[in-house]
Amino acid sequence: MRSADLVVAGCRELVTCAGPLPKRGRGLRQIGAVENGWVASSKGVIVYAGTEEGFRAEVGPEPGAVMIDAKGATVLPGFVDAHTHLPFAGDRAKEFGLRIQGWTYQQLAERGMGIQTTVKATRAASLDDLLALSLKRLDRMLLTGTTTCEAKSGYGLNLEDELKQLEVLCDLGALHPVDVVPTFMGAHDIPPEYRDRRGEYVRLLVETLIPAVRERGLAEFFDIFCEPSAFTLEETRTLVEAARAAGFKIKIHADEFVALGGAELAAEVGAVSAEHLIAVSDEGIARLAGSPTAAILLPGVSFFLMMDKHAPARRLVDAGAVVALASDFNPGSSHISSMGFILQLGVFTLGLTVEEAINACTGNAAYAIGRQETIGSLEVGKKMDLLICDVPDHVTLAYEAARNPVRTVIKNGRVVVENGRRVGAR
Ligand code: NIG
Ligand code: FE
Repeated sequence: MRSADLVVAGCRELVTCAGPLPKRGRGLRQIGAVENGWVASSKGVIVYAGTEEGFRAEVGPEPGAVMIDAKGATVLPGFVDAHTHLPFAGDRAKEFGLRIQGWTYQQLAERGMGIQTTVKATRAASLDDLLALSLKRLDRMLLTGTTTCEAKSGYGLNLEDELKQLEVLCDLGALHPVDVVPTFMGAHDIPPEYRDRRGEYVRLLVETLIPAVRERGLAEFFDIFCEPSAFTLEETRTLVEAARAAGFKIKIHADEFVALGGAELAAEVGAVSAEHLIAVSDEGIARLAGSPTAAILLPGVSFFLMMDKHAPARRLVDAGAVVALASDFNPGSSHISSMGFILQLGVFTLGLTVEEAINACTGNAAYAIGRQETIGSLEVGKKMDLLICDVPDHVTLAYEAARNPVRTVIKNGRVVVENGRRVGAR
């Protein structure tokens, strides 16, 4: 008999997302659903997920164990948001207004707006300002089901302000239940003071910023925006090699608007992920399909930038690539923090099935940030991170478009959202 200190009983549909990760091809449709499912944990770790009969035969709740009746709801793993730009200051509502009048995201960038607007605001903000803003955003994410997120720096673009953003990300761990996985993205853009001497900024990254972030242990991943408006393919290669040599795992913002070959490079250098891929080439799709590199698709961007073009999700899945979905939460190209909505966009705009979109927001997303051993599915030995959703079955997660169905969130075996509201301190 296994003992449990928390039991979630009576799930009309328990979506475990069980099975080996990552999931590819037809495997992405397997969501491991159990009718009338029960899940139990001890000290934040899952000890059982399956049928009621199995639970009664194998698990004994401890005296005083918390018993939650899911009351016929659908239960699934907490969402993993594998791509966010969480710690920024300011907003870009005015620039959004210009976009509505017809300006493009790239036209704003060419005129010193876009990312540069946020760099100015973020440089001017204190660490405490950024911490307070990030905590508020994490609350919002948690209420829509995100229990782990990746988060990038990249609005400092100098040593002091990149370190400030990364310190914020590290401090969040002690202050908020959502787990934050930090990524150093000093290669998000060329800062204004280096506009006419970009080579010097690349050198600064290689010689100063990359070693400084590594030495302080402030980030696990290195990410770079490989795009004509930011870093060329050659610069990307130089920086990725330096970051790898320093001990970072690699992510690449690849082929977002222009097919520069970022996807091919990501597969070649063994990057953990290639992200965006709206413009990825046929060759890029083939290379990703034959590699362990995850394709993180960000349907919020095409939606938020009002683009007709979308990442070729169907072709990537059918070719056998590891497909994950994420929000790209940021102030310019995707001011969207709800993974429930991203799941829906995966279905409505990328042509994924609901089952594929669920796996892409959970297990495959965990793989895309190197956390597949501990999160992303409801299986024995993994963290008790789950969502109780007010829908009768998993298809309704997408069918009730634009509604947040998350009633209860359990993180590390503790109830942190109840009846749609934040409860408990950290
Ligand atoms: O992922 N592509 C580059 N970076 C972000 C946008 C950041 C911003 O606009 O502030 C993205 O889309
Ligand atoms: Fe991004």
